This record gives sequence, C-alpha cells and structure tokens, in this order.
Amino acid sequence: MEWSAKWIAPAQDMGDVCAVFVKEFSKGDNISKAELFITAMGVYEARLNGVRVGDFVLAPGWTSYEKRQQYQCYDVTGLLKEENSLEVTVGKGWYRSPIPGWTNEEGKNKKAHLPAGLIAQLVLTGEDGSKKVVITDESWTAKESRIRFSEIYDGETCDATFEATETQPVVCLEKGTQNLIPQQGEKIREEEYVAAERVFTTPKGETVVDFGQEVTGYVRFTVDAKAGDRVEISHGEVLDKEGNFYNANYRSAKAKLCYTCKDGVQTYQPHLTFFGFRFIRLDSFPGTPVPEQFTAVAVHSHMKRTGRLSSSNPLLNRLFSNVVWGQRGNFLDVPTDCPQRDERLGWTGDAQAFVKTASYNYDVERFFTKWLADMAADQFADGSIPHVIPACGLGSGSAAWDDAATICPWQIYMTYGNPEILRQQFDCMKNYIGFITSSTKDEYLWTGGTHYEDWLGLDAPVGSYKGSSRADFIASAFYAHSTSLVVKAGKVLGEDVSGYETLYDNIVKTFRKTFTDYRTQTEMVLAVHFGLAEDLQKTADQLAEKVIADGSKLQTGFVGTPYLLHVLSGYGHTDLAYTLLLRREYPSWLYPVTKGATTIWEHWDGIMENGDFWSTDMNSFNHYAYGSVADWVYEEAAGIKPEEPGFARVRIAPKPDSRLEWLEVSLETRHGLVRSSWSHIEENGCKKVRYEIITPSPSVIVIDGKEKEVEAGEYVICVDEI
Ligand code: BGC
Repeated sequence: MEWSAKWIAPAQDMGDVCAVFVKEFSKGDNISKAELFITAMGVYEARLNGVRVGDFVLAPGWTSYEKRQQYQCYDVTGLLKEENSLEVTVGKGWYRSPIPGWTNEEGKNKKAHLPAGLIAQLVLTGEDGSKKVVITDESWTAKESRIRFSEIYDGETCDATFEATETQPVVCLEKGTQNLIPQQGEKIREEEYVAAERVFTTPKGETVVDFGQEVTGYVRFTVDAKAGDRVEISHGEVLDKEGNFYNANYRSAKAKLCYTCKDGVQTYQPHLTFFGFRFIRLDSFPGTPVPEQFTAVAVHSHMKRTGRLSSSNPLLNRLFSNVVWGQRGNFLDVPTDCPQRDERLGWTGDAQAFVKTASYNYDVERFFTKWLADMAADQFADGSIPHVIPACGLGSGSAAWDDAATICPWQIYMTYGNPEILRQQFDCMKNYIGFITSSTKDEYLWTGGTHYEDWLGLDAPVGSYKGSSRADFIASAFYAHSTSLVVKAGKVLGEDVSGYETLYDNIVKTFRKTFTDYRTQTEMVLAVHFGLAEDLQKTADQLAEKVIADGSKLQTGFVGTPYLLHVLSGYGHTDLAYTLLLRREYPSWLYPVTKGATTIWEHWDGIMENGDFWSTDMNSFNHYAYGSVADWVYEEAAGIKPEEPGFARVRIAPKPDSRLEWLEVSLETRHGLVRSSWSHIEENGCKKVRYEIITPSPSVIVIDGKEKEVEAGEYVICVDEI
C-alpha cells in the first residue's frame, strides 16, 4: 500500500473530547469500487454518509504502535453517493490512555500530549481501472463529537444533546507511514449479546442489573427520556457477601459510563472503550428500569470456535463454559490477564499458561501470529522479553513469563501445523535463549535475576504472592524447556541447531547435579513435565504422594498448575488427576463454580468460604490462566492429542473415570473433526465403557493400554469395566 495521505490532527487539542474528522467529496463518474484504508492514534469509528463503515470495534486494535501499526481496509462501494461525507471519530484507545493504571504523572503527561492522529486514504477505482484518491490532508476539518470523554480504564461520557456548532482546521503531523502494516490479527467485533436477567435493589438501596454472565464489552441500553436526563452506570464483576454492588477490585479504573439523554426513546452503547462486568449499578437512570432495557454486548477478537467439551457433571460443564468465557473476555486483540481493572495487559506468563487450551477452544493462529510479531518487535536488545506485550515499560526477564517466546509459537505450530509461525519467531526464540545464557550467574542454569516465580502458588510464605518453589529451580527448568523448543523449531525449519542441542544436554546435566531433591508440587511437576528428573516415574509418584499428603489438594500457582494433571495422568495417577479436577472444596477448579463463578478467577479463593474477598488490590474474577485445565480434558480425559503437528495424525487415548457418567469432546482441526466420547453403560448385566471416536486422519487409538492403528473414520468400541 502506497500512502499519499498524511497524518492529521485537530489544529487545537480537544483534551478529553473525542474529535470527529470530516471530509466532503464528490464521487465522480464511472466509479466501480471504493476502498477505505485507515488507522488512527487511538481507536476510531468511521461513518460514510451517516452509515457505520464495517463492524470492526476498537479499530485499529492494539499493537506496538511505534513499530507496527495496523491499518484496516474496508470496501465502502455500497455506501458511496454522488456527494459524500466521511466522518471519523477518534478516541484515546490504547494509544493515548495512560496504561497501565499506575503510570506516573510524567507518563500520563506524555500520553496526554499525543495528538488525536488520523490517517485515511479512500481509493476510488474507475470502471476503466483508473484510480482517484481522497486522502487526509489540510482539506479536512475537525469538530467536537458527542463523546465528551473516552478512555480505556475510565470509560466513556456521551452527551446526546451536544451538537457541534464550530469546526476547526486540521494540521498535518510530522509523522511517517513506515510503521503501518495491513491488518494482521483477527478483527474485533461484537460477538455475543447477553440479555439482562434481572434488575434488583441491593441491601444498600442501589439499583443493580445482573446479566448472569461476566462479559467483556459494554452495555447497550434503551431509555425513554427527556433531554438532559442522566444515565450513569458503574460496572462490577461480583456482589459482596451482603449482596451489594462491588468493584473495589478495579483499583484505579473508574469504568464508568455516563450519558446525557436527548428527547424520546433512544438506544445507546459506548463506542470507543470496553469494560469487564457481570453487574451494572444504575447510579442515575430515568424512569423505573426493567431487564428488557439492557443488553451486555460481548466484544472480542473474531475467532472460529473449534473445541467443545461436555460431560455428565453440571459443575464441570459450568467450568468449561467459564474457560470459554474467560477466553472471550481476554482475547480482545491481545491476550490479556484480565479485562476490568487498571491492567488489561498482554501478560506473557498468563498467555503461555493458557495458549494450548486457547488453541483448542478457538482457532487462534492469526491472533497469536499478530501478538507474537509484536513480541518479536518489542524484544529488548539483550534478548529478554517485556513482561507485557505490547510493551508498556514494565521490565522483562522473568522465567515462565518470557518463555511465552518459545512456548506460544511452538504450541501454535503443534495445533495448526503451519511452520510459518516458527519462521516468524525463530530469531526471537533464539535471542531469548541468548539472554538467559548471558545473564545467568551459573553456566547451564538460570540463576539470579528477578522472577514472578510460581505466582500465586498456595504454598507461598505468608505475605508473598510467590509460591515456595525455588526461583533458580523454576528458571533453570524453563531454560531447559525453552532450549528444547528452539531445537525442535530449528529442526522443523531445517536450521542447524547442534549448538542448542549441546546446550540443552549441558543444562539437563547441570540441572540434575544441582537440584537433587524436589520440594514442592510445582518443582515435581516441572521436573517431570520438562523431562528433567532422572527417574520420571519415581518423581511423578512422589508428586502423587505429596498431593495426597497435602490433603488431595493442589498447591500450585501459575507455573505448576497448567501441567499438574498432565503429569499425574501421564504416569498412572489418572485417578488422582480426576480427584483434583472434580474437587469442589477450596482449593480447586470447581470451588469458584460453587460460588457462582461465570469466568475463571485469578485466585482459587477470590471469594473465600466465609464470603469475604481474597483482597481488593489483586482480585480479578476473569483471569484465564487457570482455565488451562481444559487442555487436560481435551488431551487426557478425552485423549485427543496431536501425534503430528496440526493433527495430521492423531493419538486418541481416552481415560474414563467412574465419577463421570460420560464425557464428550470434539475438536475441529486443520484436518477435520476429531471427536472422542465415552460413557459408562450396562450390557447384559455387565458394566462396560463405550467409546465413540471420529478421526479425520490416520490415527492411533489407545484403549485400556492397547494401541491400534486406524484409518480416518468412525469407531465404536465397548470394553468391560475393570
Ligand atoms: C497480572 C498477572 C500477571 C502478574 C505478574 C498481575 O498483576 O494480573 O496475571 O501475570 O501480574 O506476576
């Protein structure tokens, strides 16, 4: 794309008010096609002749803007008239909102001084192939919009009675186009609509609407009002133990929607921001509200749903649903830790924990391809990876967080089978290993540095967020694992990786010499899962013993949890894995479900047994990381694993458990639909397990330890229960 357009901004800064850029133009003769190429320093919404252009919400999405800024292309042929008016509203978005929420005054000032920039190029193609362009330049004008305030964390304020009476000139910015790239990720869209379940009065006397489901997006409401009536809405995820509205856990994010009504019946929804919420409090609302007036609009990256899980256990089904809603709520262009408080950042550690589950639930190849390209762009010169991508000045160099650099591309390759992602990321992967090698205190280990460790592990000493597993142990284990992934990726790409193979051998040898005992659940999990323990079976047995000695409870945090059940069931402890999965008491995956969770919580006890909150400062109720348990259900309970990248060959080894009557799992792979289900049945007085398997490619089916090579097809197998 050749840009002749210039970046423009209002000649006078409009402060918090969102600017509308306006251009009037004539179509001209014999035009057969019109395409609008556009992006902004913020988020934009374009209208041609009053009609919304496209359905991309919060365009242009979030990238490492200075290095890579996406532009979108819309076919607007159908909206074109003889005389045209193109209007583009630009809000602060991620570009100009102070992110993260604890940004200091200097950072806030810097953001506040960024102009509300817009660049657009409308290409009109004639029937004869000739091209005419309408570009952003000094001929555009700007005016104030009805949106008086819009920002990522604090929300939006709209005055429907406002009519701009003045326009002002625009200025061209000294800003190039070399960082502009075509839309690479999925577009963000309105994807689900959740009707309000009830409107009620809390013990405090406040009016609250409950949608019954936590979503990320915004509220659409309809109201019959008089000009000047006020709507004020606060957002919250949960009620407190008295049943009152609560959102202290949003920290500094105000998450408010304010609207001044015009006369008559009107429907409004915010345009340039989003919230994470299940409840809204009506701080001001004309008339007596009823549920029919409110819809929660879920907004996220447009991804194709590929995986489905269901079972005979309703609590487990709610957990599966929470995992999916957690993904919807946090896959808004960037894989974020949470969608509500003053973070909503692309935390690498969370993404690597969840990437496998994410890639089974939905087709996220494109989504991760874009995010990982930002990671490569933001990687520091020393090879370390910023803690959040796009980077926001939060530092780098934490084991298991930075390892998103190797784990995510490798998983995307395994799920979808396309080596392109490895090619794109290979330098980033290698440079990351180089960072560890040059920054460690001890050769062939990763010692020293500052890490998040086994973040939120339950064996954390009092007052700490970090579990008791040794930092050097975790870091060295990930050093080995990431090096092994560089070796594997290099082999796929036909690169010489002999140096990395030697490095890997040395790390493993040194690891074994240094760490001769395993002290925590997470240490045992890593030692087995990354193949570091000398005797894998013995260490897995030791883990099982420890879990039982700990009261058949998990103690793991962000680092150990994603692999815990895999290690147990991989070494003969499937029974115990199910015990953990089906446990309802704290700590467990189902405990939050018993407390009414509709998404995955950041803490196993975000709401404690007595109804108190874990804390106010770090207590998200939509944090997908622990939702990674779903990949165990796909791969172990239902037994669907890629035997070759992209499921070109599948290994189907279901592991039923008598505590579930049945389980049914399907996965739409690049090679077609894989389905694995099992149920406990009775036949002629005999208890049996009935398996139904569909595979689109040649596969290995493993039932009761017996392996069978099969062609693509449908298989029903019945086996006597032991
Ligand atoms: C985020 C996490 C993240 C962590 C780093 C938190 O504030 O919400 O999910 O990984 O910081 O330890």
